[in-house]
Amino acid sequence: MTIADLLSIDDLGGADGIEDVLRLTDSFVEVTERSIPRVPALRGKTVASLFYEDSTRTRMSFETAAKRLSADTMSFSVASSSVKKGESLRDTALTIEAMGVDAIVVRHSSSGAPHRVAGWVDAAVVNAGDGWHEHPTQALLDCYTIRQRLGGLGGLHIMIVGDVKHSRVARSDVAAFSALGAEVTLVAPPTLLPPSLEGWPVRVSHDLDTVLPGADVVYLLRMQQERMTEALLPTLREYTTRYGLSRRRAERLGAGAVVMHPGPMNRGVEIAPEVADLPQAAIIDQVRNGVAVRMAVLYLLLGSGPEKVPTAERLVEQAGVA
Ligand code: NCD
Repeated sequence: MTIADLLSIDDLGGADGIEDVLRLTDSFVEVTERSIPRVPALRGKTVASLFYEDSTRTRMSFETAAKRLSADTMSFSVASSSVKKGESLRDTALTIEAMGVDAIVVRHSSSGAPHRVAGWVDAAVVNAGDGWHEHPTQALLDCYTIRQRLGGLGGLHIMIVGDVKHSRVARSDVAAFSALGAEVTLVAPPTLLPPSLEGWPVRVSHDLDTVLPGADVVYLLRMQQERMTEALLPTLREYTTRYGLSRRRAERLGAGAVVMHPGPMNRGVEIAPEVADLPQAAIIDQVRNGVAVRMAVLYLLLGSGPEKVPTAERLVEQAGVA
């Protein structure tokens, strides 16, 4: 598979493309488990991150991934840049590209911003989250984590619980999970669902307690307060009572069920403090797998050579010395 940019899950062209990334990720997971978790696959390439919104995990994860592939990294954060002096997104992107970058990882509060950047620059563009729209690498690492825990996604019942309306993670997850054959149920009060779900391959429930016993995966979302322009909930406390994954609710989950969250978590709101640390919770695995998934994505976009899915051995060998 060859792709020029990764802007949405659909760019991977369905289940086969997603599976290709997951298979490639296996090789990079092996690499990250070595004593020197670095391969020369992208030596001489430069990856820039262009983040217009806050981030802990995603930004560090992409930068770690690029470094482990021996790429150079450049980091741009709005708070300390000329954006404060009025520079436009287009001029900023062109300026970064002029310094000689091969890939730009973009996060922005406006849906579609990475698509605009991809139209302006020749470098490969990766969407690291755009407004309410998509966050494709999050969905890929979520698929990888579910596959690691449960063997695959075909036939699984996945509940995505919470603020779906404002969640780019939910949009990418629904696309990826359903492409891999899972049945997705959105669980939220009507005010936290998108106004129209036409074309979404999902079921909807407003009652977590009813659907919980049948869940293979419970995927919790943070309340995106920064994107809410009106009061969508009576109180957070009421949300927690009806939709929070409490200890008592977690005990009703099936033995093999997995609890996930993209982070940042608000412990005590969508997830009880202690539930996030239970063995069923895969939240730290998600973060760990994120680095290998992003190595796979950067390698697919920038790696050259006939061998598109190399083994970890081969990746290390290519080095001579890693
Ligand atoms: C998410 C995001 O920024 O879209 N976090 C992440 O990337 N892991 C989810 C969130 O902010 O709640």
